[in-house]
Amino acid sequence: MPNRCTIYEPTENALDICAQYLRDGEVVGMPTETVYGLAGNGLSEDSARKIFSVKGRPLIDPLIVHFADVAGAIKHVEVNAAVETLAAKFWPGPLTMVVNKNDSIPNIVTAGLPSVAIRVPQHPIFRAVLQRLDFPLAAPSANPFGYVSPTLAKHVHNTLGERISAVLDGGPCSFGLESTIVDLRDPENPSILRHGPVTQEALSDTLGRDLADHTFGSSDKKAQVAPGQLTQHYSPRAKVHLFELGTAPSNLSDIAVHENCAIIFNAKPLFEPIAKHAYWLSEDGNTETVAHNLFELIQRLDQQGYTELHIELSAPTGIGKAINDRLHRAAAK
Ligand code: TXA
Ligand code: MG
Repeated sequence: MPNRCTIYEPTENALDICAQYLRDGEVVGMPTETVYGLAGNGLSEDSARKIFSVKGRPLIDPLIVHFADVAGAIKHVEVNAAVETLAAKFWPGPLTMVVNKNDSIPNIVTAGLPSVAIRVPQHPIFRAVLQRLDFPLAAPSANPFGYVSPTLAKHVHNTLGERISAVLDGGPCSFGLESTIVDLRDPENPSILRHGPVTQEALSDTLGRDLADHTFGSSDKKAQVAPGQLTQHYSPRAKVHLFELGTAPSNLSDIAVHENCAIIFNAKPLFEPIAKHAYWLSEDGNTETVAHNLFELIQRLDQQGYTELHIELSAPTGIGKAINDRLHRAAAK
């Protein structure tokens, strides 16, 4: 199929065109502050079906619904004090809350669950489109199911361009990792379902209580309340190997001579390139910068045809938890 997808600069006219595609039931690639989303009418069963089909995503993996503001969001869900507290502190922003839904949200959007994941995003382009519409936007990350999430408009264009008409270009996504997901169905027992830019520490400080860790990789069996969390995900074509922070891959001398192996450090190595194909995600190891650049570098090296990526883990604090979560999943082939 030919790629007829237009990458639009975000002019007023382009925002109008994309809003009209969405009213017509089409899906559009759109920037958020986390990653690019594949957006469609969150109240329409047909649009939701289109999202699943364009992504090749199984119908058992529910979508996040994005609203222009808190007032718009709470009309469709069961609110509680914890939701109000976190919304006041973190919205608009990279936090998704799972709450019980009303009938207005079609069952296909939530994969048949009685709960829905909701978020008020911060990105000005996404917000400008939402403000043109009288419905919220369901949007998963705009990657083919299982592949690395997109942080540039061209990532969406290259991977889904044969199946969609438009992507709005907002430049690189500032956080570069998907939103944090927190389960607030029971406000007395909040839990974290996916690590992201809003840290577990910040959430428990704001709520004044600890959150159970139900994320991928946690030993807690209740992790299964987050559908789609247990599967291998975020994988490039290249095989991913991980090494501990501050170390080098154990078989460095072998890797170093292989043309098709890349080594990815968090910070620029202090000594001259220790391997021919060494890359780094930041100059100084700053974790926010590492997160911002991670998916872009993985996609670029994957495009260049490397077959093995050896990637350094982050310190498991702050957004480092989210980075390590995505890396462990990418390595879990
Ligand atoms: O940053 C983000 O969250 C991006 C941007 C576009 O907003 N979106 C995103 O969506 O990462 P997606 O579809 O790639 O991941 C959404 C995940 C699902 O895989 C599922 O694990 C969880 O959210 N989820 C959605 N609805 C849920 C629900 N009702 N209960 C539990 N988990 C849910
Ligand atoms: Mg995704």
